[in-house]
Amino acid sequence: MNGVDIDNKVVVITGAAGRIGSEYARAVAAAGAVAVIADTSEENGRKLADEIIANSGKADFELLDITSKESVQRLITVLTERYGRVDALVNNAYPRNKRYGARLEDVTYEDFCDNVGTHLGGYFLTSQQFGLHFQKQGYGNIVNMASIYGVVAPRFEVYEGTRMTMPVEYAAIKSAVIHLTKYLAKYFKGSNIRVNCISPGGILDAQPVEFLDKYRAFSLSKGMLDPQDLTGTLLYLLSDMSKFVNGQNIVVDDGWAL
Ligand SMILES: NC(=O)c1ccc[n+]([C@@H]2O[C@H](COP(=O)([O-])OP(=O)(O)OC[C@H]3O[C@@H](n4cnc5c(N)ncnc54)[C@H](O)[C@@H]3O)[C@@H](O)[C@H]2O)c1
Repeated sequence: MNGVDIDNKVVVITGAAGRIGSEYARAVAAAGAVAVIADTSEENGRKLADEIIANSGKADFELLDITSKESVQRLITVLTERYGRVDALVNNAYPRNKRYGARLEDVTYEDFCDNVGTHLGGYFLTSQQFGLHFQKQGYGNIVNMASIYGVVAPRFEVYEGTRMTMPVEYAAIKSAVIHLTKYLAKYFKGSNIRVNCISPGGILDAQPVEFLDKYRAFSLSKGMLDPQDLTGTLLYLLSDMSKFVNGQNIVVDDGWAL
């Protein structure tokens, strides 16, 4: 136990086979909850569930495509039959197409719509479907993954000299996720459903040293964060310690956006 009481809660984490999601799943299971690893990546998702179970945690892998209503509804049905309830949804998947990550001048209208549609549209779809289920159930908790780039304008200077950039779709998606969070929190007024979001700074992933140095110059201590640096905030939002925190965006960025 980590001092937060989420024992035996059923927590769906979309994109849990990925970098941040896998640490979320480990942390949720370590706190005694059932980590439902819901991802399009079956191989990585099953491997993670096996690892958590081998460490005496509770985990399930379920194939999920957040852009398919049928897939989302199937997941809700399967979990309700298996556990009798779903306590929380963590919207953490990161859909993007092969051309994602281009500079502004190279982004086509079609690719912009595709990437915004799958990512933001997927978060809408899962929130809508789980939200309706939570209404019937009488309670629920949704945590959305946003980003500091949904809060502040890009610092393009930290990417200079690298092949990296901050995609225009990402700014549109993540700022919208923050406002979608507020919309949903208000929409579900009186339903015992909370909706909050987490806006992390950059996460370490073998980025070029010159970028890391430029990025760190804006940070107040560490610089780019590890996925483990986000888990405390997630557990807090999933637990009753944050019972009256609703419609909020919690920035976890080592002060980078100040
Ligand atoms: N990495 C960062 O620096 C960073 C910073 C701030 C916010 N975030 C946000 O955190 C979240 C997780 O990011 P990450 O870096 O761990 O991503 P990742 O690419 O490591 O993992 C994303 C996961 O989502 C899954 N996925 C993709 N499309 C899907 C779909 N349609 N349905 C279900 N699953 C799908 C992938 O299979 C993968 O396992 C995203 O919302 C991202 O925007 C990341």
